[in-house]
Amino acid sequence: PLLDPVPALPALYTSVGFSIFAFLSTLYLVPALGHTFVKAGLKGGDLLKPYRHEIPIPESQGLVCASIYILLLMLFIPFAFSNFIMNFASENTSYSEGISVVQFPHYQLSVYLSSLLSLLIATMLGFLDDVFDIRWRHKLPIPIIASIPLLMVYYAERGNTHVVVPLPLRSILGTLVNLGPLYYLYMSLLSTFATNSINILAGINGSEVSQALIIAVSVILNDLLYLPWPMDFRIPLHLLGNKAEVEFGGVWSAGMAYGSRELVERHLFSLYFMMPLVAVCLGFLYHNWYPARAFPGDTLCYVTGMAFAVVGIQAHFSKTLLLFFIPQIFNFIISCPQLFGLVPCPRHRVPRYDADTNLLYPSTAELVKEPSKITMLTLKTMAALGLTELQLHPKTGAIQKASNLTILNFFLVRLGPMNEKRLVQVLMCSQVAGSVVA
Ligand code: UD1
Ligand code: MG
Repeated sequence: PLLDPVPALPALYTSVGFSIFAFLSTLYLVPALGHTFVKAGLKGGDLLKPYRHEIPIPESQGLVCASIYILLLMLFIPFAFSNFIMNFASENTSYSEGISVVQFPHYQLSVYLSSLLSLLIATMLGFLDDVFDIRWRHKLPIPIIASIPLLMVYYAERGNTHVVVPLPLRSILGTLVNLGPLYYLYMSLLSTFATNSINILAGINGSEVSQALIIAVSVILNDLLYLPWPMDFRIPLHLLGNKAEVEFGGVWSAGMAYGSRELVERHLFSLYFMMPLVAVCLGFLYHNWYPARAFPGDTLCYVTGMAFAVVGIQAHFSKTLLLFFIPQIFNFIISCPQLFGLVPCPRHRVPRYDADTNLLYPSTAELVKEPSKITMLTLKTMAALGLTELQLHPKTGAIQKASNLTILNFFLVRLGPMNEKRLVQVLMCSQVAGSVVA
C-alpha cells in the first residue's frame, strides 16, 4: 500500500512561527524605515487631517510589508517540502519497511514558484505606480500578463474548468458547464480585479490594509474547513480517500466528505501564503490605524490583491474567493461610471473633511459640461437607488454635482457624517458581514 503521508504539521507550525516573525518585523521596520522613504520623496499628506500640509507621512510602506512577506515565503520553501526531504533522507529505511518512496513533487514546487513570480510583479507594479502614478489603461493589463505563469501551472495539472450551474438554470444547462478557455479568461481577470479593487477602496486611514486583513482571515477560515480534523499529521494516504468519510465521518470536517490528498495539500498551500500575510497586515495596521503614521501606497494594495488571486487560482477556489470581495465588488460596480468616463473622476474621491466638526461628509464630482443623456440617466437611477446624492440647479433642474461614486461616500450618504475612525470601522464591519454571508 502507498503510505505517503500528507506533509502538514511540522510545516504548518513553521509557517505560524514565520508569521510571528513577520508580524514583529513589520511592527519594527515600518517606523524604522519611514524617514528613508520621506527622504526619497515617497511621502503624502494625510488628506483628511487639519495638518495635511504640515506633516508628511511616509508613503509606499507596502514595500516594507511586501519585502518581509516575499522573503519569508522564499525562506519557507524548504520547509514546505520538508516531508519529502525527510523521505529522501530515510530512503533506505523506507524501502526496508516496504514503503514506496515518493517522487519529489516538482508540480507543487512550480505552483509555489509561479506564485512568487506573480507576487514579485505585483510588488514591482505597485511600487512603480507609487513613484510614477501610472495611467489606468497602462496598469490594467499588467496583472493579466502577470497571471500567465499561474494559469500555465493550472493548465499543467489539467485544472478544472467546470462551473456548477445555479439551481434555477439546471433544467436548461445541466449541473455542470465547462467554460474551457473562458475559465482561464476569468482567472486572469481575477488577478486584475483583486489588485485594483482594493486600491480604489482607499484613502481613509486603515482602509486598504484592513480589507486585506479581513479577506486573508476569511480565506484562512475557509482553508481550515478542508483540513482533516483532528489532525494526525502523518496520515497515511489510504485514510484520505473516500474511506475517510466512513472511518471518521462525524469527527472530520465537512471538507473531508470529499476529502482527497490534493484538496488538503492545496489548502495547506493557501495557509502557507495567507498566514504570513495576516501577520504583515496586522503589524502594518498598527502604524496605519487612525491617525496614520504610515501609508500603504499602491504597493500594499497590489501585493495583497495578487496574493488572494494566487491562492484562489492555485488552491482552486477562485469562485469562493470572490465571495470574500463583496464590498470591493459593490465599490467597483458603483465606481464604473467614474472609472469609464461617464461622470467626471477627480484625482481623489476620498470623503470631504470638515475641520470644524472633525467629521467626514460625502465629497462631490462637479459636472462642468452639460451632461450627456446617458450620464443623466445613470446618475438619476443611482440617486433613486440611494447610491449617490445629487445637487441640482435651482432653476433649470440640471445636475450640477454628484457625490463621488464610492462605497465610502455611499456610507456617508446613507448613515450621515461621521469621523474617519468610525468610517473605517463601518467599512470593516461590512467586510466581515460580507465574509459571514459568503
Ligand atoms: C485611489 C482612488 C482615489 C483615492 C486614492 C486614495 C480611484 C479611482 N482612485 O487612487 O480616488 O483618493 O486612492 O488613496 O478610486 N491618503 C490619505 N489617507 C489614507 C491613505 C491615503 O490621505 O489613509 C492619501 C495620501 O495623500 C496619499 C494618497 O492618498 O499620498 C495616495 O493616493 P494613491 O494611492 O496614489 O491614489 P490612487 O491609488 O491613484
Ligand atoms: Mg492607491
